[in-house]
Amino acid sequence: MPNITFSSPLHKDKTVYAVAGSHTKTVLTLAKENHIPIDFSCQDGECGTCLVKVTNLSRKGPMGGPLTDREITVLKDLGKITQAEIDAMAVDDNVHTSWRLACQMVLRDEDILVEYPSK
Ligand code: FES
Repeated sequence: MPNITFSSPLHKDKTVYAVAGSHTKTVLTLAKENHIPIDFSCQDGECGTCLVKVTNLSRKGPMGGPLTDREITVLKDLGKITQAEIDAMAVDDNVHTSWRLACQMVLRDEDILVEYPSK
């Protein structure tokens, strides 16, 4: 099972090493279960409040689920992803972005560092 590390310079006491028990949970769901204070609002990939920076810590390389259409729209509006990156991800599963929406990113079998708040 993967280790998910949540870290924030604003909440140093809240750094948590959580183990994801399911590959159906989003980063936000796991954060809420572990009382990690990631900001959120819509929980539906529309507002961008839950923006986080994700770093893969596994030797296997990034495995995170693909960006949802809503996530692409919000990340582009926030200037966190370019059209060139979107185009590259569409044709190559090995291309990933560090910026994700916690309510949209589904956990996979990989160790990741989730940094928040990311603004
Ligand atoms: Fe609104 Fe995640 S909470 S995009």
